[in-house]
Amino acid sequence: MKKPIRLNAFTMNTVGHQSPGLWTHPRDRSAEYRTIGYWTELARLLERGLFDGVFIADVLGIYDVFGGTADAALRHAIQVPANDPLLLVPAMAAVTEHLGFGVTFSLTYEHPYPFARRMSTLDHLTGGRVGWNIVTGYLDSAARNLGLPKQMAHDERYDLAEEYLEVLYKLWECSWEDDAVLRDKATGRFTDPAKVHPIQHRGRDFTVPGIHLSEPSPQRTPVLYQAGSSARGRIFAGRHAECVFMSAPSIGILKRAVDDVRAAACECGRESAPPLVYAQALVITGATNAEAHAKYEEYRRHIDLEAALALLSGWTGVDFSRFDLGATVEYIDNDAGRSALASFSKADPSRKWTVREAAEFIGLGGRGPVLVGGPEAISDQLEQWMDETGIDGFNLAFAVAPETFEDVVKWVVPELQRRGRYRTTYPRGTLREKLFAGSSRLPSSHPGRSVRIDPLPLEPGRL
Ligand SMILES: Cc1cc2nc3c(=O)[nH]c(=O)nc-3n(C[C@H](O)[C@H](O)[C@H](O)COP(=O)(O)O)c2cc1C
Repeated sequence: MKKPIRLNAFTMNTVGHQSPGLWTHPRDRSAEYRTIGYWTELARLLERGLFDGVFIADVLGIYDVFGGTADAALRHAIQVPANDPLLLVPAMAAVTEHLGFGVTFSLTYEHPYPFARRMSTLDHLTGGRVGWNIVTGYLDSAARNLGLPKQMAHDERYDLAEEYLEVLYKLWECSWEDDAVLRDKATGRFTDPAKVHPIQHRGRDFTVPGIHLSEPSPQRTPVLYQAGSSARGRIFAGRHAECVFMSAPSIGILKRAVDDVRAAACECGRESAPPLVYAQALVITGATNAEAHAKYEEYRRHIDLEAALALLSGWTGVDFSRFDLGATVEYIDNDAGRSALASFSKADPSRKWTVREAAEFIGLGGRGPVLVGGPEAISDQLEQWMDETGIDGFNLAFAVAPETFEDVVKWVVPELQRRGRYRTTYPRGTLREKLFAGSSRLPSSHPGRSVRIDPLPLEPGRL
C-alpha cells in the first residue's frame, strides 16, 4: 500500500512570495494580504481541500543583497512589505476546524520567554492546531536592524537554536504538571502552586529562572517544523524536527536530502518517529493538459528576472547583480542560507546552471519543481516524486493567489482521491494527532521529552 500524499500550502504575509513578478498577473490577489478576508477565504479553501496545513513563511529583514540596496526588493515586492505571520492564525482558526498552522519565527532575535507564551496562546486558541517552523534567519539586514553589527555565523545560529529549544522545552513540557490547574470554584483554588515549577535555566545565552506564564496547551510543544538543509541544518532537523520542509529542483537532489535527514533522525534514536518530509512544488493545472500548459505560458510572461535575482541574492548572500546572466552559478560558503545556493551548484555536479536559468527557475514557484498538466498528468507527477524520493507530501507554492490553490483543490485532490492516494476526511484531534495518528504530545523518543529541570535553585528568593 503506497503512502497517502499530504498537502500543505506555502504562503507568507506579504505580496507574491515564491514567484517573483507574478503579483502583476491580473488575477493575482496576493496584494490583499493586508485584509482578514483574504486569509479566512484561503483557510476555508484549504480545509475544503483537506490540506494538512498552511505554512506561513517569514523574514525579519529586507532583501538588500542585490546591488547592495533594497531598491529591487521594494520595487518588485520581494517579501516586502511583510506583516507578522503569527497574527493571522486566530482569524484563520476561527473559520476552520481542522486546518493546521505552521508559522515561521526566527529564534535568533527574540528571547525564548515571550515567544513560548505566544505559541502557547496560539495552541490554546486553535485547539492544538499550531506548529512552529524553526528558522535561524539568513538576512544580514535583520541583524543590523536589531542593533547587531552583522548576523551570527551560520553554524553558531544553530548552536544558539539548541539552547533556545532547551529553554522552550523546559517551559512547555516541564513547568506545569498536567493536573496543576484545578479551576475549583468550591475551594477557591485555581492552580496548585506545588505543581508549577520554575525552570531554573541558566545557559550560555539565556537565563530563565521562573515559570511558564501559560497553563499547558493541548499540544504543549507546538508541532516542530524545520527547513534548513545544510550539513548543520540536517543534524538539527534530525534531532528536533517532526516535519521537514525541503526545496530541491530535481528528484535526485531531493532524494539525497530526504535520506540524509532520515539518517540524522535515526542517529538521534528517533527511528520510531522519523520526521515527515514535505517537498516544495508548484502545481499548474486545469481541466486538461492543454489548458494547464496555456496557463503556464501565461504565468511565465509575468516572471521578472531582476525580482528573481533579488530573491536569490537574499537567500544566498551572493549579489547576483555583479554577474552576467550567462555566467555559471558557483558555490560560495557564507553566513546566509547554504542549501539554496548548493541546489544550483554543488548539489548536482552534472548540472551547471547559468544565472539566467536559476532566475527563470525560481521565477515560478521558488526552488521546487513546476509541475504542469491536467489532473491525471499532475497526479502522475506527484506520485512519481513521492515514490522515487520517499517524501510524505508537498508544500505547494503558488504562482497566482489564490488561483493556484483553487485549481489544486478543484482538479487534483479529486483525482488523487480516486486513486486512493489522498484522504477523504480529516482525522480527529490536534495537529500532532492528525499528522502522526498518535498522541497530542511529543513522542517519548523526542529530545523535548527528556529535558529536566535542574533541582537546585538558581537564585533563591528571586523566582
Ligand atoms: C521550504 C523552505 C522554507 C523556508 N522558509 C523560511 C522562512 O520562512 N524564513 C526563514 O528565515 N527561512 C526559511 N527557510 C530557510 C531555512 O529555514 C534556513 O534558515 C536556511 O535554509 C538556511 O539554513 P541552511 O543553510 O541550513 O539551509 C526556508 C527554507 C526552505 C527550504
